[in-house]
Amino acid sequence: MNRLQDKVAVITGAGSGIGRAAARLMAAQGARVVVADHDADAARETAGLVTAGGGEALALTVDVTEEASVAAMTDATVAEYGALHVLCNHVGGTNPRTDLDVLRMDMAEFDRAVALNIRSTLLGSRRAIPHMIRAGGGSVINTASVAALVGDVLQTSYGAVKAAVVSLTKSLATQYGPHGIRCNAIAPGAVMTPALENNLPQEVIDSLLAVNALPYLGAPEDIAHAMVFLASDESRYLTGQLLVVDGGMTTQSPAAPGRRAMLPA
Ligand SMILES: NC(=O)c1ccc[n+]([C@@H]2O[C@H](COP(=O)([O-])OP(=O)(O)OC[C@H]3O[C@@H](n4cnc5c(N)ncnc54)[C@H](O)[C@@H]3O)[C@@H](O)[C@H]2O)c1
Repeated sequence: MNRLQDKVAVITGAGSGIGRAAARLMAAQGARVVVADHDADAARETAGLVTAGGGEALALTVDVTEEASVAAMTDATVAEYGALHVLCNHVGGTNPRTDLDVLRMDMAEFDRAVALNIRSTLLGSRRAIPHMIRAGGGSVINTASVAALVGDVLQTSYGAVKAAVVSLTKSLATQYGPHGIRCNAIAPGAVMTPALENNLPQEVIDSLLAVNALPYLGAPEDIAHAMVFLASDESRYLTGQLLVVDGGMTTQSPAAPGRRAMLPA
């Protein structure tokens, strides 16, 4: 219950999905959480869920692509709670309808992908780390994706910027490790956030299930539990790593689903 006692955790994109689950689980482990999202109502809703569960939360409206907004977020955190120990750079994503293959992709969407995924992670880190140094250490947790690890037929920008998040994670771990600051990334596989659950056709869900080693898709809490671990002192010797939480999607040989049929009954 108290794995994050006395820690202050900022979670961007906590108005929804995985970020909301992380805010609730971190608060349940004793952290004071800052719910940062550009959707003010969504941020307030998450903070309300945290406080209804007996936790402590501050809702902030932020655009993670704007440095002034990110600086206001980290400053407001320290003004409210006196310190900042954990930063989850969680906002990210691209539009799969315009983030296509290299020849047909929309270059404006590529620029948006850079801003939303890698610029945001850099800005959050550079604004939070001075506070972590003052606190004597901290943990930065970046949200990457399995898209950083494999090629794909579309979402070219998404894979590229998430690979950049993995690279930045290693540089942050290297540069600020001497200050007791750890930096790790998580690569979620398919996670059924409400938005996906309501919009994905059943055949797409079936195709994702077919390539997972486990017979189910992820829930937001599956990723959030890993974030709690990386925020806590249980992971004090872990830094610069990519934790792949994907139900075995990238573990098994691509031939494995077909080869199952070759097994004796
Ligand atoms: N859901 C999945 O299957 C999956 C898989 C791999 C990686 N991821 C990664 O997880 C992260 C979030 O995914 P999710 O499924 O929880 O998404 P989500 O859409 O449920 O939540 C994203 C939140 O970010 C907020 N947001 C968007 N732009 C913002 C901005 N500029 N500034 C501040 N807040 C902003 C939104 O308002 C929303 O509340 C992303 O980095 C995504 O790439 C998700």
